[in-house]
This record gives sequence, structure tokens and C-alpha cells, in this order.
Amino acid sequence: MTDSCKVEALEEASLLYREPALYAEMADAEAVDTAAAIVALADRHGPAGADSLLDVGCGTGAVLEQLACKYSKSAGVDLLPGMIEISRERRPQLETYVGDMRTIRLGRSFEVVTCIGNALAYLTAPDDIEAAFATFAGHCVPGGVLVIRTLTAFPPLDRSRTSRTRVSGRSANVTTTYTRDPAAEVLILTRHWDFEDREPATDVIRRRVLTIGEQESFAAAAGFTLVRPRDEDEDMTIFIRDDAGDLRSGVADD
Ligand SMILES: C[S@@+](CC[C@H](N)C(=O)[O-])C[C@H]1O[C@@H](n2cnc3c(N)ncnc32)[C@H](O)[C@@H]1O
Repeated sequence: MTDSCKVEALEEASLLYREPALYAEMADAEAVDTAAAIVALADRHGPAGADSLLDVGCGTGAVLEQLACKYSKSAGVDLLPGMIEISRERRPQLETYVGDMRTIRLGRSFEVVTCIGNALAYLTAPDDIEAAFATFAGHCVPGGVLVIRTLTAFPPLDRSRTSRTRVSGRSANVTTTYTRDPAAEVLILTRHWDFEDREPATDVIRRRVLTIGEQESFAAAAGFTLVRPRDEDEDMTIFIRDDAGDLRSGVADD
């Protein structure tokens, strides 16, 4: 398995992953809208009356918290202990685990499985992506749905953009530049944080761009059928689980 997916690599790559409280402050605002979009898709394509959901790469649990209002038997998994720590502090009602989406086996399956917020994009090697889809399949009931939101195209490259933001009461100029690793379908985000009153920080984040066609191939190999190609205003991809999953017994990493 690829080292770039390890906890240390992720924390080194991004200030927001070294300091999950900052991540929560910047990212949790969209949770209500994201959860509503997932519920609408799962209602349309998933089992009637579904009440179970697994959020893979759940971060601090902000979206999961919203989803748990609808899916009473819900759980979340994230690689970073700091993310799960915040989830447990702020959202103690949620069932969350520290675990790697390539290997975790909770020993039960769900009617809805989500992997959103580009969590899948942190896996850049085909073997790792394959392993993640096996995890999705291993936790999804036949006829259940898998909802993915990940990078599907490269944004404009090599142009720097600076914006001013406030984090934890501090102002910062944040300059972002996207480049492409020519050897792989990998998008490199270089993000420089220039704070008023603390040391600057630079993130170098490598994420895999996975077209809908590529997602479809990985999903098909794991036993899912694509049911909802992306359209103009919706950036989630949805799959239905074809048959009984290979649900191996096992436990979470903690
Ligand atoms: C940008 S955050 C998105 C969090 C949440 N899904 C959301 O939409 O707010 C991406 C998350 O993916 C998690 N992640 C990355 N690689 C992972 C892996 N191999 N297994 C589980 N989680 C992973 C990161 O720790 C991070 O919390």
C-alpha cells in the first residue's frame, strides 16, 4: 500500500490536517447542504425506508451529524485520529472510528455508503483505489447505494490565486496554485498561508483525479453499477450494489 496515504503524510501535507480544529472551522459550513443532496439521491435510488449509513472519510463528522438525523444507524470512519477526536468531542452521539478506507472492516453493512469531500482523492495508486472500492462493497447491502464526491477533472492549472481569509480570529492571505503531476492523474495543490501573527505554512497536497468512467470501472470490479452520471448541477456520483458483498468479519483500528 502506498505511503502517501498514511496519517503522517496527510498531516505533513496540510495545515488543516495538522490542526483539525481549523479544518472544522473552514469546512463544516456546507454540511447541511451536502447532507440534503445525499439524502435526495439516496431516497431516489436507494432502498425504501433506508435507515443505515456509513460515511467513509468522515472528517470531523459535520456531514455525518446531519445525515444521522435521517439514518438512525449511522457510522463514520476517518484515517486521521485528530478528525475523529473532534468528532467525538463535538458530536459524541455519533459512532465514529479511526480507520483506513483501504482496510477497515466494521463487520456489518449499510444501505447507504458515502465517500465525499474528496476523501477518495487522497488515494492516488490504482491498488489503493481498488482497495477502497472493496471496502465500500464490503459495507454495502445488495441494492444499497454508494455516493461519491471526488475530483473528476483538473481545474485551470499554473495560475496563482490569493484570497484573504479569517481563521480562528486571525487574518491570513492564502495563495493557491494547481499543477499536474505529468506521471499520473494527480492534481497538486500548493497552498501558502501567510498569517498576520503566526508562522507561515505551505501545504503540498497530492490528490488523484478520477473521471466518472474511471470510477465506473473501479466500482464495476467491486460489484457496483453506475446509476447516475454526473450532470450540470450535481457533482456526486451514485452507484448501486449489485450482489452480496464480501463482508469479512473484522474490527476497526481502534
Ligand atoms: C477534505 S476531508 C472531507 C471530510 C468529510 N467527508 C467532509 O466532506 O467534510 C477528507 C478526509 O478524508 C480523510 N482520508 C484521507 N485518506 C483516507 C483514508 N485512506 N481512509 C480514511 N479516510 C481518509 C482525511 O483524513 C480527511 O478527513
